[in-house]
Amino acid sequence: MTVTTAVPAPTDAVSCADETRAAVVAAAARSDAAHGDRRIVAFFCRECAYAAADATGNARISLPTTIRSVLVPCTGRVSPLHLLTALAEGADGVYVAGCLEGQCHYREGNFHALDRVLFVQRLLDSVGVEPQRCQMFTMSAADSPKFVAAAKTMHKAIGDLPPLQRGTMGDPAMAPAGSPSRPRGGAV
Ligand code: FES
Repeated sequence: MTVTTAVPAPTDAVSCADETRAAVVAAAARSDAAHGDRRIVAFFCRECAYAAADATGNARISLPTTIRSVLVPCTGRVSPLHLLTALAEGADGVYVAGCLEGQCHYREGNFHALDRVLFVQRLLDSVGVEPQRCQMFTMSAADSPKFVAAAKTMHKAIGDLPPLQRGTMGDPAMAPAGSPSRPRGGAV
């Protein structure tokens, strides 16, 4: 009989929240004039996604320079607030990269992450912002090509969209869907 024990949460689970937020804000604000100032904040789990990133670096393959990475212990630590903060602080797109389904080192972190990405997509859509600005990808530690493909997919998806408009809660963009005062293109 196989006895399984609960996988403990990352030891820095409590303190990582503020650190992650600070890293998100810094990544979203970092500009790159050479790419029309487009920014994509990518959350990489410290296990499979990071290993794939490492393999990519060792192979001297570069990612699109629009990508700004934020390392997290597990994608399960990425909250909707992190994703929305990235968009509100300057990113035009955001994505989460983690272990394959069923292979999260903390058991279900990537399933929680997917739920949150889908939630944020619905939220963006409800205020007129293209939901494809927020996506999730999974990969094995050895799958550098999939890691690179995820970055290129986001780079192209965001490049095909106009820059993200940023508004406030009082902005007409926040008006309910169908409202005549709501412009297309949306805002966060
Ligand atoms: Fe990679 Fe959880 S450790 S997604």
